[in-house]
Amino acid sequence: MQYLKSVLPALLLAGTIVDATTYTRSATVNSSFGYDATSFYLHGEAFQMLGGQMDPQRIPREYWSDRLLKAKAMGLNTIFSYIYWNELETAPGQWDWNRISGMNDIGAWYQEIQNAGLQAVLRPGPYVCGERDWGGFPAWLSQVPNITVRTNNPQFLMLSEYYLGNLSQHVQQYQVTKGGPILMAQVENEYGSFSNDHDYTAALSAIIAKHFDIVQYTNDGGSTPPNIVNGAVPGILGEIDGDPYAGFTNLEKYAESSSRGPKLDGEYYINWLTTWGPNATYPYVSGIGYNDSQNIAGLKYILDQGGSFSIYMFHGGTNFAFGNGGLNFGQLEPVTSSYDYAAPLNESGRPRDIYWQLRDFLLPYQNGSLPEYPETKPMLETEDIVLKPVAGMFNDLPPATFSGWPLSMEQLGQGRGYTLYRYTTPSSHTGLLKVGDGPRDRVIVYVNDTMKGVIDNVYVYPQNISLSLHAGDVLSLLVENQGRVDFSTPLYDQRKGIVGDVYIGTAMLAPWSMYALPIPSPPANLNFSLTNTSLTISNTSSPTWYTGSFSLPSSICGTAAADTYLTINGGTKGVLYVNGYNLGRYWSVGPQQSQYVPGVWLRESNEIVVLELEPRGKQELVARGSGERAWFNRVDVDCVGCVSANPN
Ligand SMILES: *[C@@H]1O[C@H](CO)[C@@H](O)[C@H](O)[C@H]1NC(C)=O
Ligand SMILES: *[C@@H]1O[C@H](CO)[C@@H](O)[C@H](O)[C@H]1NC(C)=O
Ligand SMILES: *[C@@H]1O[C@H](CO)[C@@H](O)[C@H](O)[C@H]1NC(C)=O
Ligand SMILES: *[C@@H]1O[C@H](CO)[C@@H](O)[C@H](O)[C@H]1NC(C)=O
Ligand SMILES: *[C@@H]1O[C@H](CO)[C@@H](O)[C@H](O)[C@H]1NC(C)=O
Ligand SMILES: *[C@@H]1O[C@H](CO)[C@@H](O)[C@H](O)[C@H]1NC(C)=O
Ligand SMILES: *[C@@H]1O[C@H](CO)[C@@H](O)[C@H](O)[C@H]1NC(C)=O
Ligand SMILES: *[C@@H]1O[C@H](CO)[C@@H](O)[C@H](O)[C@H]1NC(C)=O
Ligand SMILES: *[C@@H]1O[C@H](CO)[C@@H](O)[C@H](O)[C@H]1NC(C)=O
Ligand SMILES: *[C@@H]1O[C@H](CO)[C@@H](O)[C@H](O)[C@H]1NC(C)=O
Ligand SMILES: *[C@@H]1O[C@H](CO)[C@@H](O)[C@H](O)[C@H]1NC(C)=O
Repeated sequence: MQYLKSVLPALLLAGTIVDATTYTRSATVNSSFGYDATSFYLHGEAFQMLGGQMDPQRIPREYWSDRLLKAKAMGLNTIFSYIYWNELETAPGQWDWNRISGMNDIGAWYQEIQNAGLQAVLRPGPYVCGERDWGGFPAWLSQVPNITVRTNNPQFLMLSEYYLGNLSQHVQQYQVTKGGPILMAQVENEYGSFSNDHDYTAALSAIIAKHFDIVQYTNDGGSTPPNIVNGAVPGILGEIDGDPYAGFTNLEKYAESSSRGPKLDGEYYINWLTTWGPNATYPYVSGIGYNDSQNIAGLKYILDQGGSFSIYMFHGGTNFAFGNGGLNFGQLEPVTSSYDYAAPLNESGRPRDIYWQLRDFLLPYQNGSLPEYPETKPMLETEDIVLKPVAGMFNDLPPATFSGWPLSMEQLGQGRGYTLYRYTTPSSHTGLLKVGDGPRDRVIVYVNDTMKGVIDNVYVYPQNISLSLHAGDVLSLLVENQGRVDFSTPLYDQRKGIVGDVYIGTAMLAPWSMYALPIPSPPANLNFSLTNTSLTISNTSSPTWYTGSFSLPSSICGTAAADTYLTINGGTKGVLYVNGYNLGRYWSVGPQQSQYVPGVWLRESNEIVVLELEPRGKQELVARGSGERAWFNRVDVDCVGCVSANPN
């Protein structure tokens, strides 16, 4: 089969709805990489992808080459990666190709892949799912008039093209057609399980063809035949993910002729993601895989069929800086800061048992010769590090925005973090508090900065908070964005903060002062020399900044020997920063009980900053670094008279 290149209609940029019939395709033969009915060919030789997924934007830049060498040493030959648009275009037209120590330097990722002698498959989305905030869509998309994501909508397609065009400028030299490692690019992501608008996927495919010069493919959940049919783009290779037994059989039965080619299981789930919740576990155990011998049997089946695979995930990494998404099947299930995924290479880049089993399995497919596994340094263990309260979050607020009604986080120009809504009571109100159209996501309620309770959409039935406010009382609602849904419903409306009006009983409250608190990094003015303070923490205190410090020998800091899992003992829920890096959320409910601290970000003298949202009388917190991570659950202290979700 030949690779079909498409031409983007000029209509698209003019903002007109694209009809799949309005553009034509002209065939070109791709000599560097191509496929026929049963095989991929790389430089003329039959090629089976022994793939694994790693996303650069979840891995510290300093560790990219280490993780790639470990992939190669396990026997992989191809790296599949999602690219997250929302991390790159942080505001309309504002591009950041460096973010967090260079994790956004996508071109450098492909240079490293090339240096390692590996091949690559590009998965640019724009929707990637991937347990990322809104599946990789920038939060500001919700403010674009008339936009509907993942549809044949001119606004969405135009902004998607800007993204793909800018991405192309950074990676085009790494395409196989230019002598680089990128073999092919995915169109959309599991679109067939979302909808079936073939005009939309054809238009997106045309945009990719305009900016990239490589084979395209689609990837859909293979266990459900309609997904394959709905997700297909005529002339584009159609592949599956999930269970390879059902998936390959369904591909044979249901793929249309112009989408047929060699088989690829583009996401072979070797394990599963983890969400926060008192009943959530690490890792989720059901379906195919999750059993080492069954995992390997599935891979053998794929290779015996002449197929290719990508292990999802080979190495998961970390949702730094609130990058996580969430699921919602009735209640929000936010994805944990850790994206360990119980993958062959764990979050700290150390191998689990399955890594060695896979290496043994893959060795014969690599002619019995694999590179040595790079040395694994032991991880850092620390003493207890005492963290003292140094400032109240509400004592140092940015300038307020005033409005007659609550504005959403996105209307305030904010994507992630927290927004504080304040209302000063002119006269008495008594009754049940109702926050907009529901909590988006976690609302901590204060009267005069005294905590009254928590309303959170993780609960099946959130707490009912009744208030009796008198003239002069200040009602504060601190709303946390816990991660926009990346899969399941509702995908279209992912605005955060407060959407709708706030009532006490039947009284609608207005006007409001609003404070955007995205806190990508801690406030610069926290004073690390404060070792004792007059701050007295009560059971109902408002969010408080705690700080502490620790030192390391120069021989290990800045290296993987300083990698550690840091636990915040005594904390309820909050955010951890080390040396200014946002390492994500912690939450005592678990199952994640510690956070990965990359040793490359540590120095001889290190500053820990914690934002504890519910200090609950703790005059100090204690941080401790360990080489082992505990996964367990605690009772949810905020689930007062409510029913907790997250049965998994
Ligand atoms: C890059 O994005 C900007 C908008 O953010 C757009 O104007 C420009 O055309 C894009 N560049 C390419 C090459 O597509
Ligand atoms: C949005 O749609 C409405 C109704 O179709 C239309 O009147 C308006 O001009 C559109 N706005 C933009 C910016 O496209
Ligand atoms: C894994 O699967 C194999 C084959 O089905 C089975 O024999 C074995 O008991 C399973 N192991 C576990 C730990 O469940
Ligand atoms: C293994 O050896 C065969 C025969 O020499 C060669 O064609 C093939 O490319 C080699 N495969 C790898 C992965 O090195
Ligand atoms: C809250 O603070 C205001 C202003 O200081 C005061 O008038 C009011 O009485 C306080 N309310 C409570 C419940 O302490
Ligand atoms: C930090 O606090 C100490 C002790 O109160 C004080 O001497 C010092 O000036 C403060 N430093 C800054 C930068 O505020
Ligand atoms: C800090 O606390 C220690 C021990 O309680 C005490 O000796 C010292 O005087 C305190 N320093 C300040 C500046 O309050
Ligand atoms: C604070 O909370 C603790 C633990 O729940 C409780 O034992 C204590 O009585 C509370 N203190 C006050 C003043 O309410
Ligand atoms: C990762 O591997 C290291 C070294 O074997 C181990 O200490 C740590 O507990 C592992 N972490 C996870 C999350 O599995
Ligand atoms: C809150 O009140 C509503 C109706 O007023 C009720 O359906 C719900 O069960 C209550 N929630 C809890 C946690 O009691
Ligand atoms: C969560 O687990 C607790 C025990 O740990 C149990 O009592 C409760 O019913 C569980 N909730 C759900 C929704 O499964």
